[in-house]
Amino acid sequence: MSSSALTVLAIPGSLRRGSFNAMLLRAADARSPEHVAFEHYEGLGDLPHFSEDLEGALTPASVLELRDRLRAADAVLISTPEYNGAMPGSLKNALDWASRPPGESVFKEKPSAAIGASPGRYGAQRSQEAVRRVLGAMGAEILDEELPVPRVHEKFDTEGVLVDEDVAAQLDGLVSSLAELTGIPAPPLPSSAEYSLECQRMLA
Ligand code: FNR
Repeated sequence: MSSSALTVLAIPGSLRRGSFNAMLLRAADARSPEHVAFEHYEGLGDLPHFSEDLEGALTPASVLELRDRLRAADAVLISTPEYNGAMPGSLKNALDWASRPPGESVFKEKPSAAIGASPGRYGAQRSQEAVRRVLGAMGAEILDEELPVPRVHEKFDTEGVLVDEDVAAQLDGLVSSLAELTGIPAPPLPSSAEYSLECQRMLA
């Protein structure tokens, strides 16, 4: 059990094995402060196509699980690819499911941010704009920061480790801002006496 104060549900908008957007979310997780715990949603491909005929008592278990995980998270971080100038259909499908039933969207007032990556020159910028627009329609509390990562294949090494310092710094800043948006305070830094005691313990 983690002692972290707040949880971020990370949702990659790609189903692709080796997705750069999933890598970006893993990098954000690896670099996040101790009081921020990431959970990674990997069920996008299990969701059926949205249909109003599947609502109510017929709501699929995969949809209920998505809603539960969104409800339980203090914040949501979506990393989206861009397909033909917009977000992938599978991500829009998940957001549509999350927006229902009417008036009960689990995104309502949920602190949320959209980032994205592409091997191209614009870093999935149009897709991020689309995600933010949809989150707005669902009543989410959207972080007013963007992180488009262009030429993403040059930012990771062959092991999937983020090696670009600029992107890493921007990612750190964005995750901190998202954590602040939750209103959950970060734990206070240890006093210098506590810090030196901790150092002595580690050296012993
Ligand atoms: C793309 N790609 C792409 N890239 C971009 O910058 N703008 C675009 O409009 C598109 N359009 C597009 C359509 C389709 C159908 C595919 C499959 C791909 C390229 C895309 O950015 C690239 O495949 C990314 O690597 C996908 O993200 P993941 O899977 O690596 O996270």
